[in-house]
Amino acid sequence: MPNTLHRRLIVGNWKMNPATVAEAKKLARIFRRVATSLVHTEAVICPPLSFISICSGRSLFTKKSSPHFHMGAQVASTQEEGGPHTGEVGAQMLRDLGVEYVIVGHSEQRKRGDTDEIVAARLKAVLGQGLTPILCIGESVRDESGAYLSVLKDQIKASCGDILKKSAKSIIVAYEPIWAIGAAEAMKAEDVYETSLFIKKVFADLYGADMGLKVTVLYGGSVTYRNAPDIIAIGKVDGLLVGRESVNAPGFVELLKAVDLVK
Ligand code: 13P
Repeated sequence: MPNTLHRRLIVGNWKMNPATVAEAKKLARIFRRVATSLVHTEAVICPPLSFISICSGRSLFTKKSSPHFHMGAQVASTQEEGGPHTGEVGAQMLRDLGVEYVIVGHSEQRKRGDTDEIVAARLKAVLGQGLTPILCIGESVRDESGAYLSVLKDQIKASCGDILKKSAKSIIVAYEPIWAIGAAEAMKAEDVYETSLFIKKVFADLYGADMGLKVTVLYGGSVTYRNAPDIIAIGKVDGLLVGRESVNAPGFVELLKAVDLVK
């Protein structure tokens, strides 16, 4: 899907939750129903790979999709072709399941060993199948001197360095400061705004002024239904990447409705 998004994008990263198929099905059914009534918002859920088929809005026979409800995956293999890659799931297989978005370079995967090279390879594999990557970047500490800005710039350059503008147009950037993930509070909305402007500038420097204006930037890190409207309104981001609140059914439903009302 080309990145010509004007609607807000709310992405639920379920991480390794919930524990059972029955719970996953129930969450997906609730979110799919709410998404149908959204006006300015698109909802994406990224369940664990094992639950994607059962959460997908379309039946495998009718291929019918639900409005404003999309499937995402938390990871795709670096391998572009099928073969002897035990444990891997390729972007092509995800696409065939109805997945449209794939999270790439989440800090929890970087912590488990994804280097910049691996992140770049996953990004390339996802783009190669025409899927929309959600490239996660974020600093581990926010220092006074502003060194965190170079961390963000380096992460973008290391991932996108080999990617041509034509493909880069569909990249979505999720800014997730590591210190704000799983924390008590999200980053201040004013700071989200400043950082999203910086990310747009890095894209403008890499690909030209038009890309700086067009790139979709999400914020992630301790987003709840309470803070989401301010992060959208004051932080002026194009959407949110939500962890814990995305597997809390009442909270995520409230969040989708609250964001949809932001002018
Ligand atoms: P929390 O919303 O639980 O802080 O997680 C954020 C995140 O990592 C989403 O990808």
